[in-house]
Amino acid sequence: MTPITLNTLKALKAKGEKFSVLTCYDATFSTRISQAGIEAMLIGDSLGMVLQGHDSTLPVTMDDMVYHTQCVSRGNQGSLIMADLPFLSDADIATLLNNAARLMRAGAHMVKIEGDHWLAEGIQALSQRGVPVCAHLGLTPQMVNQLGGYRVQGRGEAGQLLIETAKKLEAAGASAFVLECVPSEIGQAVTQAVSAPVIGIGAGPDTDGQVLVMHDMLGATVGHTAKFVKNFMTEAGDIQAAFEAFHQAVKQGQFPAPEHCFK
Ligand code: KIV
Ligand code: NA
Repeated sequence: MTPITLNTLKALKAKGEKFSVLTCYDATFSTRISQAGIEAMLIGDSLGMVLQGHDSTLPVTMDDMVYHTQCVSRGNQGSLIMADLPFLSDADIATLLNNAARLMRAGAHMVKIEGDHWLAEGIQALSQRGVPVCAHLGLTPQMVNQLGGYRVQGRGEAGQLLIETAKKLEAAGASAFVLECVPSEIGQAVTQAVSAPVIGIGAGPDTDGQVLVMHDMLGATVGHTAKFVKNFMTEAGDIQAAFEAFHQAVKQGQFPAPEHCFK
């Protein structure tokens, strides 16, 4: 398979074609997910919850992220690899640059950072130095203590602010966006407002790409799963088929369905 790059995702957006993304944390699943044609894999700090058993992503360290990025990189068969900058790994610009460098050396092609309009300075510093950045907006789980829980964001006036923030961060150099848990109309508006690809999770059907946590879409997650999750294992019957079904459902605009979206 010709390796997927940022340009591939931009070209898909320009053509109005959808792409799929899954989280991934190890080499075996990396091979399987990339062989299913899924365009990008995210080493998400969600590993703190699904692999390590913490009740939030806050305990995840840079060492954890580097280790899992190396594992995913070894198994990859051509997908774009994005890695999360964990909680407070961007305390100042020098720290941010060093931590992003560690993820890139571990095999990431892009880093993802959670926040808001104030991310502009860090995004500019990274992108100027050759590190593509995905800005994660909307529900940002590293801020769960500030937000008071995992709640839908961008309702009412906050939706307009989100659109302005995305434009500002694209101007600062953001190459992609993750938009989490926002009303579908805000997902659509942000996607139209920026030329960088927008990857949604609980952001409606109109974003350029869709991402899910692998454990959630395989039906492996213990306990509560969010409204935006679909279990692709039930119908597919085996893991490889579930990855392929997810990819096809996103490509054909069948996922997310209305029951996975917020109004
Ligand atoms: O950590 C993660 O898995 C993520 C995705 C849910 C976007 O950030
Ligand atoms: Na994350």
